[in-house]
This record gives sequence, structure tokens and C-alpha cells, in this order.
Amino acid sequence: MHTITLIPGDGIGPEITKAVTDIFAAAQVPVQWEEQNAGQTTFDQSGELLPQALLDSLERNKVGLKGPLTTPVGKGFRSINITLRQKFDLYQNVRPANTTEGIASRYSGIDLVLFRENTEGLYSGLEMFDERLGIADSIARVTLDGCRKICRAAFAYAAKHGRKKVTLAHKANILKLAGSMMINACRAAAEEYPEIIFEDKIIDNMCMQLVNKPEQFDVIVTTNLFGDILSDLCAGLVGGLGVVAGANIGDETAIFEAVHGSAPDIAGQGKANPTAMLRSGLMMLHHLGEHAHADRIEQALNATLKQKDKCTGDLGGKASTSEFAQNVIDNLA
Ligand code: NAI
Repeated sequence: MHTITLIPGDGIGPEITKAVTDIFAAAQVPVQWEEQNAGQTTFDQSGELLPQALLDSLERNKVGLKGPLTTPVGKGFRSINITLRQKFDLYQNVRPANTTEGIASRYSGIDLVLFRENTEGLYSGLEMFDERLGIADSIARVTLDGCRKICRAAFAYAAKHGRKKVTLAHKANILKLAGSMMINACRAAAEEYPEIIFEDKIIDNMCMQLVNKPEQFDVIVTTNLFGDILSDLCAGLVGGLGVVAGANIGDETAIFEAVHGSAPDIAGQGKANPTAMLRSGLMMLHHLGEHAHADRIEQALNATLKQKDKCTGDLGGKASTSEFAQNVIDNLA
């Protein structure tokens, strides 16, 4: 039995995490949940944004499943997501994107995994504002150690999963220092894996190529901000934010969460698609070595996705979040 820290989160978070725990319970997955929360919800209840009890729980369990947390735009508190990633050194943000039968997309044959550096760059939290001069500095701090770790992780993943190519997306023509540190770190990692093709592309060209011919990409590695943006772009390639999973992985601790945010526009209405959250839960099961349980639930999910009328509105169906979860449960073999 695995004990997992469950963070329901804000907005649609409680609805989609419940869908996952219901499906796991029906499938008799050997996990027990330790529920802890953070963010706007806990702040409204207790005045605490990131309760110590949550940190202690993650410290103990080493694995978490997390719903999205709201971060105020342009003001207010610093992102709890970033704080968690930095606190537990979850330096890999792993986001697979693949076309799936039953999920409408303009493309076919996409099967890529994005590795986003998750703790540095423009998300380092180094911001200064001189009101008198009207100058804002947002510093993108990139370390050699951080570059090496994410590049090695991307190549190690590619080798382990029989992937053929790693593409680095960067902006080293303009950001010459940070960009070339990333290129050099990737070249060094590539030397350890001669069977894997390594290429690099400037981020603007990368965006065009992803939209134009996404099936050419296999594993992509990039810095924090570019990865944040590219992963939503990749979600758009394969059916939208409701279906794309993610994982924040460190050497000791891992937190699994969907790519999307708290979706305040549909929160509390039973409209959210729990697929992205469920797929994140399946990544978690593989991480825990529970491959058979993950494969069984994935088959039930894929069977459900082929029945359009049994899916949520974003996929063209009429099912609510909880009805969708029940449909997955009904499809468990
Ligand atoms: P969002 O991802 O929450 O929503 C963007 C659009 O996608 C909305 O129209 C929403 O309804 C739709 N959408 C998202 N998830 C969906 C799902 N499961 N099923 C169906 N439709 C879905 O992005 P937005 O609106 O920019 O951000 C809202 C809040 O979420 C912000 O406070 C942001 O900081 C936070 N956020 C949190 C993340 C996290 O906790 N990891 C990641 C991204 C954003």
C-alpha cells in the first residue's frame, strides 16, 4: 500500500481529484490518500497559503497528486506551485503529449514528451521594481548544475523508453550566456547516449515547426518559461488542456499534476474533464511501479474516450465530471 499526499487544489481541482480517487478506488489500486491542501482555498479558511502539515506530508510520503492552484495575476502572493517545485527540488517537469483515438485533433501521429526545467530561469523569483524610474527587472537565473540535471534527465528518459531523438529548444542567439550553457549541457549529455539523435532549435522556429509538423518531435528539453508555453501549445496539438498530464520530479520527491490550471470559468459546474488529472495519476502509478494497475485504468480511459457521448463537453460529449469518471469505472476490464 502506497501513502500519497493528495492536494485537491482550487477551482476545478476538487472535482477532478475526486474523479481520480473514485476511479482508483473502483480499480482497487493499492494507494491510501493523505489529504492536505494549499493555496487560495486554505488561505481563505485558515490564513495559511502553504501549511506546514502539507510540507510534512510530502516530506514523509515522497509522492503527491495535486490539483491546480490559483495564482493571482500581476499582484498578490507568489505561486505555491513554484514554491513546492523549488522546495522539493522537483527540477524535471515532464509533460507527454500524444494524439489519442477519440480525442479530436488537427493532427495524427504525435507522440512527444516535453522536459521543462522546473526550478530556475525566469521563475527564479528574482524580480525588482524601481517605481521612480519605472523599471522592472525580472531575472532569469540559470545554473550549470540545473542545465546539466534537466538535460541528463531528458536523455536518460529517452534511452529508457526507446526514444530516438532529443530536441533542445533555446534562444541562444539572443540569450547567449544562459542559452549556450544549456546547449553545452545537452551536448555533454548527448555524448553519453550516442544512439540518440540530438538537435537544437531556436524557440521561435521550434513553435512554427511544432504547429507545422509536430510528429517530427520525440523528446523535447527546454528551460522553464519556454517549457511552460510550449506545453500548452503541445496540449493544443492533441486535444486541449483537459487531456494532458504532467509530473514534477526530483531525485527524492515527485508531485503529479495536470498541465492545466484551476479553470475558474468552469469551476463547480461539473464541466471539467478529469482526463488530464487521471493521466497524471497514471504517470504516478508507473512511478510507483504499479504498471498493471496503470495499464488497466488506461485501457478503460481509452475505451471511454472512444465513446464521444460519454465524454465531457470539451471533447464534444455531454457527461459531467462525475459521469465521465463513472464511465471509466464501467469500462474497467
Ligand atoms: P486554465 O488552464 O485554468 O484554463 C484555460 C482554459 O482551459 C479555460 O477555458 C478552462 O476552462 C479550460 N480548461 C482547463 N482545464 C480544463 C479541464 N480539465 N477540462 C475542461 N476545460 C479545461 O488556465 P488559466 O485560466 O490561464 O489559469 C487559471 C488559474 O490557474 C490561474 O490562477 C493560474 O495561475 C492557475 N494555474 C495553475 C497551474 C497549476 O496549479 N499547476 C497551472 C496553470 C495555471
